[in-house]
Amino acid sequence: MSDEPQPHSGPEIENLFAETRTFPPDPAFAAAANAQAGIYDEAAADYVGFWEKQAKERISWFTPFGETLKWELPFAEWFVGGELNIAYNCVDRHVERGLGDKVAYHWIGEPGDTRTLTYRDLMVESSKAANALLELGVRKGDRVAIYMPMIPELPIAMLACARIGAPHTVVFGGFSAEALSSRINDCGAKVLITADGGWRRGKKVGLKHHADEAVTQAPTIEHMIVVDRFGDGAHMVPHRDLWWHEIVDRQSEVCPPVPVDSEHMLYLLYTSGTTAKPKGILHTSAGYLLGAAFTHWAVFDIKPDDVYWCAADIGWVTGHSYIVYGPLANATTGVMYEGAPDAPTWDRWWEIVEEYKVSILYCAPTAIRAFMKQGEAIPEAHDLSSLRVLGSVGEPINPEAWRWYKDVIGGGKTPVVDTWWQTETGQILISPLPGVTTTKPGSATFGLPGIDADVVDADGTSVPNGGGGYLVLKRPWPGMLRGIYGDPERYKQTYWSRFPGMYFAGDGAKRDEDGYIWLLGRVDDVMNVAGHRISTTEVESALVDHKSVAEAAVVGKNDPISGQAIFAFVTLKSGQEPSDALAVQLREHVAYVIGPIARPKFLLFAPDLPKTRSGKIMRRLLRDIAEGRALGDASTLADANVVDAIRSNTGKAEED
Ligand code: WT7
Repeated sequence: MSDEPQPHSGPEIENLFAETRTFPPDPAFAAAANAQAGIYDEAAADYVGFWEKQAKERISWFTPFGETLKWELPFAEWFVGGELNIAYNCVDRHVERGLGDKVAYHWIGEPGDTRTLTYRDLMVESSKAANALLELGVRKGDRVAIYMPMIPELPIAMLACARIGAPHTVVFGGFSAEALSSRINDCGAKVLITADGGWRRGKKVGLKHHADEAVTQAPTIEHMIVVDRFGDGAHMVPHRDLWWHEIVDRQSEVCPPVPVDSEHMLYLLYTSGTTAKPKGILHTSAGYLLGAAFTHWAVFDIKPDDVYWCAADIGWVTGHSYIVYGPLANATTGVMYEGAPDAPTWDRWWEIVEEYKVSILYCAPTAIRAFMKQGEAIPEAHDLSSLRVLGSVGEPINPEAWRWYKDVIGGGKTPVVDTWWQTETGQILISPLPGVTTTKPGSATFGLPGIDADVVDADGTSVPNGGGGYLVLKRPWPGMLRGIYGDPERYKQTYWSRFPGMYFAGDGAKRDEDGYIWLLGRVDDVMNVAGHRISTTEVESALVDHKSVAEAAVVGKNDPISGQAIFAFVTLKSGQEPSDALAVQLREHVAYVIGPIARPKFLLFAPDLPKTRSGKIMRRLLRDIAEGRALGDASTLADANVVDAIRSNTGKAEED
């Protein structure tokens, strides 16, 4: 089990590159750790009682809850009848107990400008922003869309919404106007909060023109609040658009937090699935906050004087749970950085760690691999000795990257916590506890206390140690999604129908001889590109949307940096000729329709796509072709010549 001491045979160097090397927690770290070994048994004995106790300790309630869990599979209600306010829990209560001067965020702009926000600042600013929303007619339950760069007004806007009980939907700034308008339309948002733009790799990346374009297709938006990041002015539509500094700055600094029910919607966050239509993942208030706060405390071992940096974008769930809600509920001091890791040089992150004495760093394997490629000399030129816990999230971390992270960034002494979770789960579910779990590089190890994670075969039977299958969750947890906005049927279908009574995550997994869980990637048509889930169908739809394209098939190709890269096979309409220029155009078209993150890295024109006799595209063969490996079973292929024709062409795959 995770908390048993592991045999340790001689110097670590001997089996440095063996997959079997294990890392027990450092005894001094273990002795002082927030979460101790006994917590697993405590939670296993009575998981509902465990969360009840956590909710009483960690959340400040306006009205205490009655029943802890009402579970009518697959619909959960946690902390029934309780009333609270999320902004009060994240900000005001800390100010009330004397932490007003504690830094909530050290913010660093990409050009080098900085801002420091204390908990008092956050309280004042989010209250003023909340009053601005009230002035614009936003009330409890009304949805607000947020489309912003990584600037302090982003968490302030989220807290402003939470303060008045208006659910937000944050749309990642890298998404297109079309992606933004479809999300606004799905939830019927009334107000859009945006900015003129943000800095990325030394360039101004504009957002306002996308927001304008989106709103022409999104009639529910009555007003747009625009943060002035650049100071260059922007085209403002009279009566509709308002500068943040004009409407927010003149508001009262006081805005009483509105009590909401435990199950009041806190936010929607859209995520890709196996169809082209993104799902509005619905998170509610009390359970979500508890899940984020508890795991942030236990997994990162957060102490009052830590300086914690989650280097994700708030536009993804990682930022929601582990830049905003979890850390703020725990009164943590955080770092927030606007820009790219290589701007102006690959030293940037390590300069920040050194300057702010960051003690906990949480990032994605794709970033770690990108740093690895630049060499050890860059991080080694900086004093990173303040680091004491390193976290990873978003995709399986390969053992080499895990070891590099621990050795080069963590100086060999920090625990590495590989955290598995999803937009839907709201909170980390599978992860080591840094003071308890003996880790293995590349394994997310075990379900956290209170979480029943299992690996099952195609029939839903738990596999023995050494077996592989599908990852499932067998009990509800507080941070779980409560549904897909407006589509309870899709919620049941997607997550609860594959294995009756269990939540199906869509990931393959194995359990090794010691019971450790290893995540093996998606088993559905979803790619994981640089830690972001992108649906193959969504990219295909964007390609087919182009006037020259007859048919498209998209697969994920293994990529040394981003995990997977998007590989598109495109068949043109008759009369259209393949060309480099058209390949560029098609890529840009995908970026236009979905956003730059979905731009295919490889694009290959194919005279035809391999299909079964019943007309189904054989993606398995396309994956083999994309990977340049021997073809698997092709006996069901309708026309074998098609594959030969594509294969003879692969050298011509356009690489971005
Ligand atoms: C998918 C969820 C959770 C925040 C980031 C992504 C993959 C996530 C890990 C990990 C292996 C991981 C899974 C999952 N994933 N963390 N530690 N090891 N795979 O959120 O966009 O909802 O994607 O990311 O495939 O299903 P998301």
